[in-house]
Amino acid sequence: MTQTTQGTQTPPNDSSQPVVAVTGGAGFIGSHTVDRLVAAGCRVVVVDDFRTGKRSNLAQWHSDPRVAIVEADVADGLFAPLAEITATMGPIERIVHFAAQTSVVHSVANPICDMRINYIGTTQVLEYARYTGVRKVVFSSSAAIYGEVSTLPVTEAMVAEPEGDAPMQGGHWQPMSPYGIDKLGAELLLHYYASVHDVPCTILRFFNVYGPRQDPKSPYSGVISIFADRAMRGAPLTIFGDGGQTRDFVYVGDVARLAAHACLSDSGNRAVVNVATGRETSVNELAHTIVQICESTSTISHAEARAGEIERSVAAVDRARKVFDFAAEVSLQDGLQQTLAWAREPT
Ligand code: UD1
Repeated sequence: MTQTTQGTQTPPNDSSQPVVAVTGGAGFIGSHTVDRLVAAGCRVVVVDDFRTGKRSNLAQWHSDPRVAIVEADVADGLFAPLAEITATMGPIERIVHFAAQTSVVHSVANPICDMRINYIGTTQVLEYARYTGVRKVVFSSSAAIYGEVSTLPVTEAMVAEPEGDAPMQGGHWQPMSPYGIDKLGAELLLHYYASVHDVPCTILRFFNVYGPRQDPKSPYSGVISIFADRAMRGAPLTIFGDGGQTRDFVYVGDVARLAAHACLSDSGNRAVVNVATGRETSVNELAHTIVQICESTSTISHAEARAGEIERSVAAVDRARKVFDFAAEVSLQDGLQQTLAWAREPT
């Protein structure tokens, strides 16, 4: 069932303020992107099924007529859920498609669920865009499509070339999970809709995004949200493996800035862009930095490494600069400070 809520004042129907749909707009990255788009002068329709998204992430827009919330599952299609709100606000001009099953581990256990949300859900969004003449679709892809690579930093241009059990050669990659496969499949869909049906698109490949509103409660939560939560409470931090594994951690404010810009820009059609900092941080360094910033009494211990874990991850970021003049600006230290300040706020 579709439920639509909107601010109580008269909804504006000002064509100078584009109407942007953000699927997954009540989620971690989606809600920050909603904030950015409203600040940029857009009216926003959030489409979220609230399985993992939270109304509290949008509390700042409660009663604001510029933001409408449609409770719906993207995999069931967008035509019916959006009919009522587009009659009031006008047609959806642009879409940021963030609604997703986000856990790699979960996708291994439930590949059908992952395919339904991540692949079929994207098809539904693109069908809506095709028939309603949407001017841009921005898609949240993932570094998970790369799997293990032998050449770093990871560039967008590396070509998928499965090689059976043979070790990867330089520059060859393949996804290692249903999650990565569905995200890659969804990317191919976007290219197809762009080239055959003239639906302009931009594909953003997120690396390890962190920051306020990232939920630490699930065992699949991002490492920074887990470490921050535990360090605040003086609980022990567990590092899987020796902690020498590295990731490219990018602050959610930077990610939302790029997503909003890519959405509102008519350039970057069919561009595929890594969203990262280009800096590599080990999990050991991360754990010690968080404990130090928190002045925490937490101990740090090690447990068995996760199966299928990637050892090193760091992105080449020149394409984001070239296509969108984008570079991540928030340092890990500053981003951690902001994340910890948020975690300290009473809920
Ligand atoms: C992350 C994303 C995934 C994305 C992928 C791209 C999250 C939750 N997952 O996976 O969606 O596709 O990047 O590369 O953001 N770790 C610990 N202790 C903990 C938790 C984690 O040591 O308590 C370690 C993990 O073993 C891993 C690292 O921290 O080495 C990062 O883990 P995690 O935050 O779960 O992200 P990824 O597995 O890199």
